[in-house]
Amino acid sequence: MTEYMSLEQFKEISDLIQTESSHRPKIGIILGSGLGLLADEVDNADYIEYSKIPNWPESTVEGHSGQLVIGELEDQAVMVMQGRAHYYEGYNMSQIGLPVRVMQLLGVETLFVTNAAGGVNPKFNPGDLMLINDHINLIGMGGLSPLRGPNIDSLGPRFPDMMNAYDDVLRDTVLRVSADLDLDLRQGVYASLAGPNFETPADLRFLKVIGADAVGMSTVPEVIIARHAGIRVLGVSGISNKANLDGNTPTSHEEVLEAGRVIVPKLVNIIRGVLRNID
Ligand code: HPA
Repeated sequence: MTEYMSLEQFKEISDLIQTESSHRPKIGIILGSGLGLLADEVDNADYIEYSKIPNWPESTVEGHSGQLVIGELEDQAVMVMQGRAHYYEGYNMSQIGLPVRVMQLLGVETLFVTNAAGGVNPKFNPGDLMLINDHINLIGMGGLSPLRGPNIDSLGPRFPDMMNAYDDVLRDTVLRVSADLDLDLRQGVYASLAGPNFETPADLRFLKVIGADAVGMSTVPEVIIARHAGIRVLGVSGISNKANLDGNTPTSHEEVLEAGRVIVPKLVNIIRGVLRNID
């Protein structure tokens, strides 16, 4: 694909999705590493493989399947990405943002984004869920923005604001839902790195000092497109491992996938609870 996609290319994809599914989702859900099982909860689902959608970035990582699942959850029309692609897989940033742009054209108003993340906050343990209050866009500060290139003014402003990137009303809803479920939800700041290597102990000490509670390799580009598009965002990280601040414990993708098995049932309950409580 060319580095920057046109409105016509985005429309071609949204038209294709609308011919493949009669659902008209207002809610998008992106499932992170090891969290794809949640898509099995969708009722009356239509499935569209990423490989059938022009320019759609396909995930090459274990723990990510590659399909859109469009259907109903708690009587709300949802569009679930079962698996996502990451920058480190070789896509350019605008391609990483493409799925959310297509959601915008399809009429999605709320994006529920999930990921697996390393816990930088020493109080966090594998299996915890962290409500994302804010992010630190380290890859963006390094020059990698999904908004780089000509701005399509009909889709959003050249200089989008990033206050309240993670919608405060939705965050309140999640906190209420998790209290009702008696689920201990952590809160914090997610820092995005490009990966695919995990962090050195010095990287992690730096992240802690600058105020990160969790670290991962995704999410932020999608959130930036969503905010540019005026889509409100709710983000939850599944803490898959304790970040190796002391330099004694290596991190592996296997433990990330293993933690997903503990995290998915909690996440399902939270997502269902939120869907019951948003209009
Ligand atoms: N670092 C970066 N990304 C991650 C981690 C981590 O420790 N765990 C899961 N995704």
